[in-house]
Amino acid sequence: MKFFIDTANLEQIKEMQELGIIDGVTTNPSLLAKEGAEPIEQLVKICQIVDGPVSAEVVGLTTDEMINEARDLAKLAPNIVVKIPMTKEGIKAVKLLEVEGIKTNVTLVFSQNQVLIAAKAGASYISPFIGRLMDNGQNEIDMLWESMEIIRAYDFKSEIIVASVRNARHVIESAKMGAHIATIPFSVLEKMFKHPNTEKGLEVFLKDWEKLQAQLKK
Ligand code: G3P
Repeated sequence: MKFFIDTANLEQIKEMQELGIIDGVTTNPSLLAKEGAEPIEQLVKICQIVDGPVSAEVVGLTTDEMINEARDLAKLAPNIVVKIPMTKEGIKAVKLLEVEGIKTNVTLVFSQNQVLIAAKAGASYISPFIGRLMDNGQNEIDMLWESMEIIRAYDFKSEIIVASVRNARHVIESAKMGAHIATIPFSVLEKMFKHPNTEKGLEVFLKDWEKLQAQLKK
């Protein structure tokens, strides 16, 4: 399973990259706005930190606008993947861009039907937003299971990026069903590392070791 980090924050990306557990990055206009930096410069900096795919989202709403923006974004770095919203205009753009060799990530996906349409359009990546489904009181895990079944049933080339991950349990559920990728916020990645018994266990091991050293000196 691949881990992407869902952020446009350079420090967070660097920290997780140094740990060697990050295979890519996803951004969106809100995440870039949070950083307050010039978005194109920020994307270039992100692409310099990671070798894996970096998703950058278009903001145009028509197919033509999306295609033009996507071509510009794709020139920023070889690892740019263009995020396209799950609309009719977006799906038209996905089909044309993939033929052109520009990788797309269909975003704002909330249903199995949308997954199927994006897969048929030939998207390289499809991003179901499971946290927002959960916030809405819908069963996000069932949606993901069925989405994975659809992808596997026809051996679609699209990889599922589990997005809008809210907690560490979401990552476990995604891994259990063999989702290709989870894009995880920094705060959730940090929680995945920790368990109170690891810290307590380490403390006891070190204390016992010191005791033994003291005994041996006597
Ligand atoms: O990758 C999509 C993600 O950024 C959306 O997450 O937390 O805004 O629902 P969220």
